Amino acid sequence: MTAKKLYIKTYGCQMNVYDSERMAEAMGGEGYEVTQSPDDADMILLNTCHIREKAAEKVYSELGRYKGLKAAKPDLKIGVAGCVAQAEGAEIMRRQPLVDLVVGPQSYHKLPQLTAKATGGAKALDTDFPEEDKFEHLKGRTKAKRGPTAFLTVQEGCDKFCAFCVVPYTRGAEVSRPADRVIQEAQDLVERGVREITLLGQNVNAYHGHDAGLAGLIRELSKINDLKRIRFTTSHPNDMDEALIAAHGDCEKLMPYLHLPVQSGSDKILKRMNRQHTAEQYLKLIERMRAVRPDLHMSGDFIVGFPEETEEDFQATMDLVQAVEYGSAFSFKYSERPGTPAAERPQVPEDEKDDRLQRLQGLLTKQQRALQDAMVGREVQVLFEKPGRQAGQMVGKSEYLHAVHVDTSDGQGGSRIAVGDLAKIRIESSKTNSLEGVLLSS
Ligand code: SAH
Ligand code: SF4
Ligand code: F3S
Repeated sequence: MTAKKLYIKTYGCQMNVYDSERMAEAMGGEGYEVTQSPDDADMILLNTCHIREKAAEKVYSELGRYKGLKAAKPDLKIGVAGCVAQAEGAEIMRRQPLVDLVVGPQSYHKLPQLTAKATGGAKALDTDFPEEDKFEHLKGRTKAKRGPTAFLTVQEGCDKFCAFCVVPYTRGAEVSRPADRVIQEAQDLVERGVREITLLGQNVNAYHGHDAGLAGLIRELSKINDLKRIRFTTSHPNDMDEALIAAHGDCEKLMPYLHLPVQSGSDKILKRMNRQHTAEQYLKLIERMRAVRPDLHMSGDFIVGFPEETEEDFQATMDLVQAVEYGSAFSFKYSERPGTPAAERPQVPEDEKDDRLQRLQGLLTKQQRALQDAMVGREVQVLFEKPGRQAGQMVGKSEYLHAVHVDTSDGQGGSRIAVGDLAKIRIESSKTNSLEGVLLSS
């Protein structure tokens, strides 16, 4: 029998990217292989994000595009997974009747059963938060060779309930995967060619699947010989404990790049966001981290135009950004999410939000560019990921996540570097979104 084809489109955060991989592997056991185009698919699965209004609306416009495909191929199954599935459940099928299947983020291990149920026009829905851990029940990972970098989810869900955020409702309560399972999976990934693992969680530094927390897990993973680099994301400032700060100082495989969202620099707004820390506490924390790792590159998330944010509050955010000097950052206009406390508060007009976002992004881009330009003349270590944009070039990432293009040709049509190699590079120039350098040694 020829394999059926599965097309998965992924929206939202890295945790969805990881989940999509796991769902594809689970469906592999049901005779499905992945296709890159919806046109020849027997099943289409949208792995969705509900974080902002625009993200959720994209799902419905994408579904609308599949009308023709479904009319031409009535057996085509269309499924919605992810955070929109969790938030809207059966409403999705009412609003868009061509959807056969809706599955929430904690029920992916039931995807094969649900797919079987959604046959001949029947609908299937599962948005439970089951007791069991989906990863324990999902099919084991395939042994196929893969690229040098991988995501690995170690923690899911969130108990923080920031006043603007849907994640605690869409992903459920905070749960950590046991360390031995994570280590086993990391070993499998390394055997398949992975050299860098990014540990994922909505609050990854609240990880408690190891007695010594995330730092303990990182130290265990460091013992895997061919695993060369470890990163983690996303962290909450209040979960950055002493052990994890110390690990940034003495754990060589832990990269000097930290994504630590603060959202706002105004204590009034931080309080209303229910972030449970002040701007000063955040700045002090970064100071402590830079004391153990002076070259640490900081990254962050910001929301502008949160309900009742005044120009003065916004200026406090700009001041905080000035003080930190970010190597990269993500900034968003506040988006009202139904069911969250902030949606009930007096809103900031849209044009104010636009104006603040522009000013903040202007400053962040300037900082990002300055830090990138400051790399010129320095030596970095690059993990090579793929061929570069020009012939003879390869591209990889530095410790600080900068993309670095390097001429690696050996003069005889070959390359001195293979995908997955780490090499010392001297940075020669800084382009808009990347660096260029020369190979010193591999
Ligand atoms: N767990 C992570 C964040 C996950 S959501 C953390 O706590 O840092 C990623 C980012 O989306 C958030 O950091 C926030 O900046 C943004 N975000 C979340 N809800 C939002 C909303 N309602 N409007 C605008 N941005 C939002
Ligand atoms: Fe959302 Fe806050 Fe939890 Fe992050 S910590 S996922 S922003 S509720
Ligand atoms: Fe979006 Fe859900 Fe991730 S809302 S950001 S896909 S946790």
